[in-house]
Amino acid sequence: MNDKLISRHFLLYILTCIGSIGIAAAQPIIIPIETHNNALVLQADKGKDVSIIYFGRKLSGNAEYSKVEGVYKQPGDYTGMFNAAYTPSGSRNLLEPAITVTHADGNTSLDLKYVSHTVTKVADDVSLLSIVLKDPVYDFEVTLFYKSYFKQDVMEQWSSIKHKEKGAVVLQKFASANLYLKAGSFYLNQYHGDWAREMEPEESKLTHGIRTMDSKLGTRANLLMPSCFMISLDKPATEDEGNVLYGSTEWSGNFRTDFELDPQDNLRIIAGINNYASPYTLQPNEAFTTPPFLYTFSDKGKGDASRKLQQWARNYKILDGKGTRLTLLNNWESTYFDFNETKLAALLKDTKKLGVDLFLLDDGWFANKYPRNDDHAGLGDWQENKSKLPNGISSLVKEAQTDGVKFGIWIEPEMVSPKSELYEKHPDWVIKQPKRDEYYFRNQLVLDLTNPKVQDFVYGIIDTLFIKNPALAYIKWDCNAVIYNAYSAHLKNQSHLYIEYVRGLYKVLERVRTKYPTVPMMLCSGGGGRVDYAALQYFTEFWPSDNTEPLERIFIQWEYSYFYPAITSSNHVTDWGKQPIKFRTDVAMMGKLGFDIVVSKLSGNDLAYCQEAIKNYDALKPIIWQGNQYRLSDPRESSTASVLYLNEAKTAGVIFNYLVNYRYGSGSKLPILVKGLDATKNYTLKEIDLYPGTTSTIDGNKIYSGEFLMRIGFNPDTRNDRTSVVVKIEEAK
Ligand code: GLA
Repeated sequence: MNDKLISRHFLLYILTCIGSIGIAAAQPIIIPIETHNNALVLQADKGKDVSIIYFGRKLSGNAEYSKVEGVYKQPGDYTGMFNAAYTPSGSRNLLEPAITVTHADGNTSLDLKYVSHTVTKVADDVSLLSIVLKDPVYDFEVTLFYKSYFKQDVMEQWSSIKHKEKGAVVLQKFASANLYLKAGSFYLNQYHGDWAREMEPEESKLTHGIRTMDSKLGTRANLLMPSCFMISLDKPATEDEGNVLYGSTEWSGNFRTDFELDPQDNLRIIAGINNYASPYTLQPNEAFTTPPFLYTFSDKGKGDASRKLQQWARNYKILDGKGTRLTLLNNWESTYFDFNETKLAALLKDTKKLGVDLFLLDDGWFANKYPRNDDHAGLGDWQENKSKLPNGISSLVKEAQTDGVKFGIWIEPEMVSPKSELYEKHPDWVIKQPKRDEYYFRNQLVLDLTNPKVQDFVYGIIDTLFIKNPALAYIKWDCNAVIYNAYSAHLKNQSHLYIEYVRGLYKVLERVRTKYPTVPMMLCSGGGGRVDYAALQYFTEFWPSDNTEPLERIFIQWEYSYFYPAITSSNHVTDWGKQPIKFRTDVAMMGKLGFDIVVSKLSGNDLAYCQEAIKNYDALKPIIWQGNQYRLSDPRESSTASVLYLNEAKTAGVIFNYLVNYRYGSGSKLPILVKGLDATKNYTLKEIDLYPGTTSTIDGNKIYSGEFLMRIGFNPDTRNDRTSVVVKIEEAK
């Protein structure tokens, strides 16, 4: 279907749904939520229970969804609510609930009945369904929200909980979403990791009972496990085949996702904020709104699902998703904490020489009483260190301007070193148990962002930097510690700490973005400890891992790319590993390119290579950032990894190819099938990013049809003396 047709179809669908239906349910009410390819169909039955009766590829007419249940002959459901749209507990439920409460009178039962539903059109191709549910006994109400992005088949689901009881209600569990899938079997592809080994995938068949993925780390919540996952139906999906659901929670703190294979062999997914140590006391008339749980579904495999998610992210979610980004030179690995104005002046000149847009000054520029000369002191004291930078940041920003480059700076504003003036002045601003020994993560503690004074302080760090240096062009926002000894001197109710921390963080980021809406900010968390789609509303990019060894990066970036588009992935060329500069740079080009090397120590050829590669990158970046990504050859299955970024018109693209297995004779013996091209167009393939003095073995003048390249393929000719091959593909006119 072309775009116009999609919109017309969508409009028609909206027109049939708009309005509010609130009549007593004499007949079951069918509520289909349709996107371009998929449907989630809810039903409010005669007893006003709301359940999920279908999820998957949509039917051409809505009339038949009510027949779906009849063709399943699965064993009985004693409760009649295994497929509840939002499972309450304490009444007849026997499985994992989405919501558990203790009412003002101490009662722990909840039942939720259909009251009404409304569909509103939010924007072209975006609609919002809300369903109001009420407890028939208590004055307690939940509204379920389903925001559908028609073209990209993406859904965001969340809930809003409120009540008018005589006193506070305690929410013991408060999921964002409750899904229900039917298939013969289910395969969960989840991720785990740690510092420098983020996004390690594991796939397993789900068995009966509950598998929980969660985080209890508070900050940098993804360090050990991110909330993103894939569920394949019937058999593990491959890149181009199979039914697969991608999901993740838009929340930068503790999350929890339960996968419950129920007694009927169906899969219940319940996702949201982790209720671990977090019962939430909700006052009458206060609304508790859960963060969105995001998902997309494809019956064409993982590649299609990821392209849809990436498109959605660029169009609707990430800050400046359709905009541009800055290439940069960072000084972290070239100087660590050991720098001064003379060294930095030379690095500014190197930034220009290299040909990137910006110089990024990393950790170590601040604190005087306890100077930040290593990672044991100074966090919290955000004044320039007088011996390293006697003339301050502003003189560096000016110098950068003279050199014709922009200037950016590293901060870690949520943290405090025990050895800092901030800690001495405000021990009550620090998250720590008053009666217990302090326990550190990277020698530091977390500030109590639940406290509005701390929020003002953190906001002030950024605001002051910009007030003093209006030309400051980039912020790297780091977060290197988890929360231990969770206790806030500010909060009355300690079980609100994990939730209020994240809310406090968002309040600060909201203020930053109100005053500085466009300045690019990198979300870093000792590597990839934090990225999620709530945070990416405030950040233009993230730092996937401190591990920049390029072979490792091929795998790390590969996995992240299923969930996040290349424009958000900050990839820096560093000295990690033994790969040549060409390999390192080519790998970093598959995202937002940066460098963290000693430019002055590069050989003439290495420097010339980098300068040329940056020029190539500048020409190709619109395609890498905004184009469609096709994974052509999987590094886990083949000795060559191959990834294509192709423009929407299918007329230009770039294919990155890397040898990932160095055994004797390894290489691309067989051609690699290209994807996504127009079969009727003709194309040329030209190798770029050639190291000085080398020539390509690929004939750039040969013309291939799209059909040929997709059916027979092309050969990048990777081998031990051609470990990294970048190929530009262009329509031949
Ligand atoms: C973290 C980041 C690094 C660097 C250091 C500075 O580890 O991931 O890139 O900024 O902090 O201390």
